[in-house]
Amino acid sequence: DIHAWRKCDSTTNQCNPGTFRKLSQACRNRLVQTPTVIMMVGLPARGKTYISRKLARYLHWIGIKTKVFNVGDYRRDAVKGYSGKEFFDPDNAEAVAIRNQCAQSALQDMCNFLQNEGEVAIFDATNTTRERRRTIYTYCTETCCFRVFFVESICDSQEVIQANIREVKLKSPDYKDVPQEEAVKDFLSRIELYEKQYETIDDKIEEKHYPFIKIFNCGERFLVHRIGSNIQSRVLYFLMHIHVLPRTIYLTMHGESEMNVQQRIGGNSSLSPAGKAYTEALVQYITNEKIQDLIVWTSQMEQTISTAANINAPKEQWKALNGIHAGIFEGLTYREVAENYSEEFAARGRSKYYYRYPGGESYHDLVARLEPVIMELERAENLLVITHKSVIRCILAYFLDKNPEQLPYIKVPLHTVIKLTPMAYGCMMGRIPLSVETVNTYRNKPKNCEPNRAVSETLNEFLEVRSEIKTGPTTTQIIYQNAGTAFETTDAKGNRTQRLDSIIGDVI
Ligand code: ADP
Ligand code: F6P
Ligand code: PEP
Repeated sequence: DIHAWRKCDSTTNQCNPGTFRKLSQACRNRLVQTPTVIMMVGLPARGKTYISRKLARYLHWIGIKTKVFNVGDYRRDAVKGYSGKEFFDPDNAEAVAIRNQCAQSALQDMCNFLQNEGEVAIFDATNTTRERRRTIYTYCTETCCFRVFFVESICDSQEVIQANIREVKLKSPDYKDVPQEEAVKDFLSRIELYEKQYETIDDKIEEKHYPFIKIFNCGERFLVHRIGSNIQSRVLYFLMHIHVLPRTIYLTMHGESEMNVQQRIGGNSSLSPAGKAYTEALVQYITNEKIQDLIVWTSQMEQTISTAANINAPKEQWKALNGIHAGIFEGLTYREVAENYSEEFAARGRSKYYYRYPGGESYHDLVARLEPVIMELERAENLLVITHKSVIRCILAYFLDKNPEQLPYIKVPLHTVIKLTPMAYGCMMGRIPLSVETVNTYRNKPKNCEPNRAVSETLNEFLEVRSEIKTGPTTTQIIYQNAGTAFETTDAKGNRTQRLDSIIGDVI
């Protein structure tokens, strides 16, 4: 098995000429876990880096160890200070030697990565000549025993290419301190130099044995050739969903629910009075944003459906958008779980992403459940998703490339809209609190998650006061380390009324 093959070599970092290599290439290609190289192909400004990074983010999110190796970065490291398009002239022998050396270094690092912990590597370079493709393919498949497939981006729309140059290339370190129009001119000449040598992947004769995907004009058309592995099919499926149209994705939790007020986890719940006030604030906010052709998605839980009710846009309900299922703990408070199922509580603290509630789900399960949602999110344009904290965490982890340790602790407050705007290589995120008072359902990782710690120690964590904030002339917000936020209101006579005392315990 491939993991045994990796492990026995961890001391030397070398590819083991043992069991795995004795298999024929055809046989290795039938193994699901054979390390995969995705080799990008295409002229400059055809979206190769964009596709590489987006693919890496997706594969990482579904749990596949993936890394992008960008040859341009190696070149910038080797040649400090870009001197102009002449460097990319195929007749410039000195520069060609440097470029080949950079491709070799990237290739070496990529192979080291795949021979150790990596599962998929994306070789992000132009790879526009048959010779370069043959060299890399042969080395990766025959010397390293990896599986290789190509993704070629072909685009002849001058409008798209000009837009790409302006969106990303002008910001490249290659054009630091170069006036814009001069940089655009240099980049267009650089493309022309590449065009002198460019050979598209030949599906008829010489390269017809390669598996590859050709993408024409940003996904208008695809050519799929000899695709034959799980990773390849998933990559193809993903590539067929992405687009480059500008759009905004709004994410929000439902308005505060009655169960949130009681600090109970999970469940189908009606909105509290504050939650109902949030639905109005949300309608106002969305109306003010004047979003074209907005679509609203909710889960199938009452709290999200009610939150969406007054928004004037087409709505769709997704079962897959329901919050994490807490199994036998549905409807309990964290405190009740800590008190009565102390070991389970500690186990979740030790490994929150992988911990599966008895009879319920883990965050890891949730990510798998959300994969079809992510595909449709990629395909969608302007969208408002009204869902649950656990689901928003998984969606944010996808867009912001968070790892499994970070994901379950991403802060997603109630009564706050999260605005995601996809950018050239990533995503911009804004949080917009809609100033409607609410409880805080966030819990920090427990300090002591050992199975043998005393229950009383865990319970103490529920009572630690972190800070008190004066939120108005008559209101003080007391923020607890682990139990959420309590609101204390003082009436006209100065008497304090506590809104959450039954949940928090001893409110100070
Ligand atoms: P390259 O790596 O090919 O030089 P980049 O990835 O740096 O090009 O270009 C980024 C730009 O490419 C982004 O503005 C993005 O919108 C655009 N883009 C993404 N996919 C494609 C595609 N399939 N064809 C053309 N342009 C694309
Ligand atoms: O408390 C609100 C809530 O959405 C629960 O329904 C859910 O179980 C929980 O938060 C998820 O947060 P965490 O994974 O941090 O417990
Ligand atoms: C580069 O140096 O920016 C680059 C993409 O390299 P290559 O054309 O050699 O792949």
